[in-house]
Amino acid sequence: MAALQDRVEGLRGDFEERARRIASAKDLEDLRNLFFSRKKGLVTGLFEEMKSLAPEEKREAGRLVNELKDILQGRLEELEKGLPKKEIRVGGSVEARSEVKGKTTLLSPDDLTLPGLRRYVGAPHPVILFQQEIESIFRGMGFTVEEGPEVETDYYNFEALNFPPHHPARDQWDTLFIKGDLLLRTHTSPVQIRVMQRAKPPIRIICPGRVFRHETPDPTHLPMFYQVEGLVVDEGVTFAHLKGTLEHFIRALFGERIKVRFRPSFFPFTEPSAEVDIECIVCGGRDAACRVCGGTGWKEILGSGMVHPQVLKNVSIDPERYSGWAFGLGIERTAMFSYGISEMRHFYENDLRFIRQFQLK
Ligand code: PHE
Repeated sequence: MAALQDRVEGLRGDFEERARRIASAKDLEDLRNLFFSRKKGLVTGLFEEMKSLAPEEKREAGRLVNELKDILQGRLEELEKGLPKKEIRVGGSVEARSEVKGKTTLLSPDDLTLPGLRRYVGAPHPVILFQQEIESIFRGMGFTVEEGPEVETDYYNFEALNFPPHHPARDQWDTLFIKGDLLLRTHTSPVQIRVMQRAKPPIRIICPGRVFRHETPDPTHLPMFYQVEGLVVDEGVTFAHLKGTLEHFIRALFGERIKVRFRPSFFPFTEPSAEVDIECIVCGGRDAACRVCGGTGWKEILGSGMVHPQVLKNVSIDPERYSGWAFGLGIERTAMFSYGISEMRHFYENDLRFIRQFQLK
């Protein structure tokens, strides 16, 4: 046993002797192998020898050898911490290793000729990117961009737009009421009123923004979504202007070959009114069970019409002299067709794998 003790001490001295000369991760690796490699390691060898000892000697020998092993492994960890973090060579192969609890993992090579690591700095959300695309089409036709509040009064959201109190048409625009006559706006149409109160014709504006409705989410409905409102008021404005402008806009977004249809509709603040549908880009009208168009092959993307004379009167614009047209478009719904996705809810699930795909459009 005394002989074993001498050898253990000899190995410790030897280890420390070599440890002083370590200058690189490679030296450290060599030292670890010299003592612990599976076949020829010096400490590994001691464990092998112990197998042939008599049982009564084994206990003491085991204690000595295990102690040596723990000490040397502890030292290897310390030595590793003392090493410069990485070795850098330009070009050529590089060995930068990190030893965690005796496990060796290769760090990524530091080749200075490789491009640097880029930090992800974020990007506009796809809905905002799409909104900007819409804005640029209308700016090209001489429209300016306006904004209005998301928390509105009953007057702007309903009354001035020709919805009398308790009129059943309000059901379709059910929302969250805040306090008194304050509510979350259900459409961007109140901005029409705000603009016409402060500006006199000619008026040519669009207004993008968030709106809120009592809706159960499904592939094409959300309780919070974005709209773009458009309003033109001037002398001699007709339904032909409405139709021509909206057709131009839709073709600028989707290309010349997109199928568009105008369908008669009703809004209290426009007369006559029309909804505009585009062909269902998800199923192309070929899937009777399509969850987006319900098998009709068409999907409504906006409501529009000639501004109701009563609305002009409400903002002191003379309907005998002026006329106007307006529209309100659902941004996510339209974006979903433009990007070819079948589900509006994806926009708000915050899955970066989805969101990052749209940055370069
Ligand atoms: N505000 C209407 C809606 O949210 C859309 C619309 C706007 C219709 C302007 C006509 C004119 O459904």
